[in-house]
Amino acid sequence: MMITTTQGAVDLALRPPQDRTEWQAIHTLRRRSLFAGEQIYRENHPDDRAGDQRVLTLVSGGEFIGTMRADLSHPVWAAFRLVAIAPYRRGHGYGSAMIRMAEDFVRERGWRRVRLHAVEEAVGFYKRCGFHPVSWDEPSRIEKCVDMGKSL
Ligand SMILES: CC(C)(COP(=O)(O)OP(=O)(O)OC[C@H]1O[C@@H](n2cnc3c(N)ncnc32)[C@H](O)[C@@H]1OP(=O)(O)O)[C@@H](O)C(=O)NCCC(=O)NCCS
Repeated sequence: MMITTTQGAVDLALRPPQDRTEWQAIHTLRRRSLFAGEQIYRENHPDDRAGDQRVLTLVSGGEFIGTMRADLSHPVWAAFRLVAIAPYRRGHGYGSAMIRMAEDFVRERGWRRVRLHAVEEAVGFYKRCGFHPVSWDEPSRIEKCVDMGKSL
């Protein structure tokens, strides 16, 4: 899909990781950007392989740009998890493009609502993507988070 970023028009794809190198890029980005501090990151976490989970990579040509996981385990809402853009690509529109593409991904599979646990620093980003705070009883591994949702 052609997306206009502040770095010009780029051809982006959001798809499952295709090889070991892409999985390593996912693990490295998650570990550095989402599991800083004392949280332990497990590369072999069973959620990544579960049948109702879709680990996705955002790629442009051969370049790894970012990652997220679409959780399709709930019948009413899809959950977006472990959302991250590579540090050197942030601030150019890739994150919002990934969210738009992920919304298409889950909509095509029948979901009409999305939820996520946003870290405080990302709340502004998700608001720009059309999310708003919601009440959600699912606990989060993030200590200070804002639960957010969006209808598709
Ligand atoms: C949050 C993250 C995914 C955003 O990706 P990104 O590619 O930098 O975001 P974009 O460039 O697409 O930004 C889209 C819009 O959100 C705004 N935005 C981005 N980050 C923001 C922030 N932290 N606070 C407020 N607004 C923000 C941008 O200014 C832009 O607004 P515009 O449309 O008016 O220009 C990225 O910064 C990241 O990977 N952060 C570390 C991991 C993380 O926190 N993940 C979220 C876990 S819940």
